[in-house]
Amino acid sequence: MNNAPARGRFITFEGIDGAGKTTCIEGAAATLRDRGIPLVMTREPGGTPVGNAIRSLLLDPANAMLPGTETLLLFAARFEHIHRVILPALESGQWVLCDRFIDATIAYQGGGRGMPIERITQLADWVHPTLVPDLTVLLEIDVGTAVHRISGRGDADRFESEASAFHERVAAMYRAQAEREPQRIRSVRSDVSPGEVRARVADVISRWLET
Ligand code: TMP
Repeated sequence: MNNAPARGRFITFEGIDGAGKTTCIEGAAATLRDRGIPLVMTREPGGTPVGNAIRSLLLDPANAMLPGTETLLLFAARFEHIHRVILPALESGQWVLCDRFIDATIAYQGGGRGMPIERITQLADWVHPTLVPDLTVLLEIDVGTAVHRISGRGDADRFESEASAFHERVAAMYRAQAEREPQRIRSVRSDVSPGEVRARVADVISRWLET
């Protein structure tokens, strides 16, 4: 008899800086908890002590670095995160809600920084050959609105302080990914009130659970 718990599901949340991911993830978590689903909430870059150290390095505006360095650091943090947090949680039957994952690397390093996508794919094939999110919620918002939100927060990090053109390239790459994988990536417009974002995300998750 096999008493192993059913493997958990892996849900990721994506969008440009200022799109409102925090509100979105809260909405998703509430929807799943209402159904009694055990959750682990985590984020990238981060989620482990080494991952958090790499996060500080990546976000500090004082640390200018080449796109390749940035990409390798993100995958180093991801390797640690996958093996220490994500896979153990999924294997124990918990669902993992992750704030950003591989789609962010394709959008930011591929779209934003111009890293060749095949390089990113090669690294993904090595670091997580079989781990693909079951569902990705992509928040979509006009770049102007998002940049306005970020500038209101003060203390912009190394990505947030990029020019609007960078965020436009990131947004365009996210849209292209959503068009390529409409089954996995579900878009939600987030230029509405936090309550409305939560309701829209709850609706997307509920409909996906029924599929
Ligand atoms: P956060 O502010 O959403 O926590 O994300 C931190 C920043 O890291 C965000 O500006 C996007 C960036 N990032 C990448 O550039 N590539 C990646 O693969 C990930 C996971 C994040």
